[in-house]
Amino acid sequence: MQTWDAITSRRNVRTFADRPVAAADLDQILEAGRRSPSSQNWQPWDFILVTQREQLRELATVWRGAGHVAQPAATIVVVGPPADNEFHRAQFDLGQATMAMTLAAASLGIGSCHAGVADIQLARQLLGFPADRDWAFLVSLGYPADRPLTPIKTPRRRPFDQVVHCDHWA
Ligand SMILES: Cc1cc2nc3c(=O)[nH]c(=O)nc-3n(C[C@H](O)[C@H](O)[C@H](O)COP(=O)(O)O)c2cc1C
Repeated sequence: MQTWDAITSRRNVRTFADRPVAAADLDQILEAGRRSPSSQNWQPWDFILVTQREQLRELATVWRGAGHVAQPAATIVVVGPPADNEFHRAQFDLGQATMAMTLAAASLGIGSCHAGVADIQLARQLLGFPADRDWAFLVSLGYPADRPLTPIKTPRRRPFDQVVHCDHWA
């Protein structure tokens, strides 16, 4: 899939086919995150790849919006830096890394969905990341159960002319 097709095909997929994702494809998705740009190249991310079904089911309980995490072939847990670091900058960087991974996934026909983490203690208990890491979010990954990823003609988005300002706000 070409870049533009991946951009226009990516959507949040919340029901997944019972089909594995090749390890090489998961590595490619993670590599897309690793290669992402960040402020001063500080790379404030760690990624935990979870593929065990029982662990996915438990992970799905860390937030009421994370139910989709129980079902896919894999979930990447994006772990942020210690909160006493320059955390306001980290959000931009972690968002970029996540977008790179979801686009890499889309380019392989693999659907993805974000989820936040409300119960960070439970996430830490399940995954074992260090005590000073108190922010994480989830990206589930799998082949869509409903329909394959194809370019979306009319995305549910604010109109182009409302979003884009030329030279000046008004
Ligand atoms: C920072 C962030 C957090 C999100 N958290 C959740 C979540 O907890 N659960 C969920 O099902 N979707 C979550 N989403 C997905 C959004 O609901 C989704 O991006 C939005 O509805 C647009 O969907 P679309 O890209 O399929 O059009 C999150 C997205 C972002 C960017």
